[in-house]
Amino acid sequence: MSWFYRHAIRPVLFLQDAERAHDFALHKLALASKSSIARNIIGEFHAAPELPVELFGLKFPNPVGLAAGLDKHAAAVPIWKKLGFGFCELGGVTWHAQTGNPQPRMFRAPADEAIVNRMGFNNSGAEAVAQKLAGWKKSGRWPNHPVGVNLGKSKITPLEQAAEDYANSFRALREFADFFVVNVSSPNTPGLRQLQDKAALDAIFTALQELNWEHKPILVKVAPDLSFEALDEILELVTPRAIAGIVATNTTITRPPGNTPALQKIYAETGGLSGRPLRARSTEVIRHLYRQTGGKLPIIGVGGIFNADDAWEKITAGASLIQIYTALVYEGPGLAKKIVTGLREKMEKTGCKHLREAVGSAK
Ligand SMILES: Cc1cc2nc3c(=O)[nH]c(=O)nc-3n(C[C@H](O)[C@H](O)[C@H](O)COP(=O)(O)O)c2cc1C
Repeated sequence: MSWFYRHAIRPVLFLQDAERAHDFALHKLALASKSSIARNIIGEFHAAPELPVELFGLKFPNPVGLAAGLDKHAAAVPIWKKLGFGFCELGGVTWHAQTGNPQPRMFRAPADEAIVNRMGFNNSGAEAVAQKLAGWKKSGRWPNHPVGVNLGKSKITPLEQAAEDYANSFRALREFADFFVVNVSSPNTPGLRQLQDKAALDAIFTALQELNWEHKPILVKVAPDLSFEALDEILELVTPRAIAGIVATNTTITRPPGNTPALQKIYAETGGLSGRPLRARSTEVIRHLYRQTGGKLPIIGVGGIFNADDAWEKITAGASLIQIYTALVYEGPGLAKKIVTGLREKMEKTGCKHLREAVGSAK
C-alpha cells in the first residue's frame, strides 16, 4: 500500500492545497467510520499485530498512536484502530468554537518531508465534540483502544483566565475520554506557550484536578523549543499536581536551513514545523525528560517519526508510547501497521520480551 500511496494517491492529493487534501481524506475516513463493511475492509489491510503496552492503568493494543490535530472534530473515531493505531488523541478542542486562522494555513515541504501549519485550533468547541463522542459511544462503534482528548485555550479567553477555559472544556469532555492532554505548546494561539510557565501551568492543573473525580490521566504537551531548564520547572509540578505524563513534543517555531527557494518560501510561513526536521530535537527532549525523572514519568514521544527506526529511537530514548501525524501525509495509511511490525522485529532482534524493557535503554 505504501508504494501505491506514494506513487498513485499522494501525487493526486498533493495537487490540492494541503488543508483541502486533509479535509478530503478525513471526510472519506469519516464516511468509512459509519460503514461496517468499509471498516472491516480497512481493518483487513491495515490493522496492526498486537504489541501490548499498559500505562496509566490503560491497555494499549500497540504503542503507535494518532497525534493530536489530525482528527480535531472526532469525525472518524472508529477508524484509527482499523488503520493500525493503538490509541488516538482527538482535538485540539477549545471551550469556545472557533474558526482558526485565515486560510491558507497548512503548507507542505515535500523535499524535507515536513509541514508548516498555523491552523490556530479550528474546532467546533468542547460541547459539540462531547456530543460527537457521545454519539460514537451510543453507536456501538467505539474503538477498543484508549481515546485521548487534546485541550487547548480558546483564542478569545485572556491568558489570566486560561485555567477556567481549560476547566470548562474538561468538565464537558471528562466522561468521554480515557486520558487528556493539556496543550500549552501550540505556537498558533497568541501567548499560549507562556502557559508553560510553572505558575500558569500550576493554576491550570489545579483547576483540572479539582474536577477530575475519576482520576483520569492528565498529561501536558510541551514545545521542542523549551530549554532544559524550563522543562525541569515543569517537572517540579508532576508530583504536586498529579501530572500523569508528558507528550514530547509539539511543533517547532525554528526552521532548518531550507536549501532551495521552494523550501525557503515554505519555511518563511509563520507557524509550527513538523515532520522529519523535528525528529532529532524531539528525541533530545524525550531523553532529557527520561533522565531527569529516572524513567518514572511516562512519556509519549512525537515528532518526525516516519518508520520503525525512528519509533525505536524515541522508545529507547525514553518514550513508552509514540504518535505520528506528518508521516501519515507522506507515507499513507499503512504506516502504523508497518511501524508496529518493525518494532516487533526490533524486539526479537534485541531479545526484548516486553516493550517496556526497551524504554529508555539508550538513555
Ligand atoms: C496540521 C497540524 C495540526 C496540529 N494540531 C495540533 C493540535 O491541535 N494540538 C496539538 O497538541 N498538536 C497539534 N499538532 C502537533 C502534532 O500533534 C505533533 O505534535 C507534531 O506535528 C509533531 O509530530 P509529527 O512530526 O509526527 O507531525 C498539529 C500538527 C499539524 C501538522
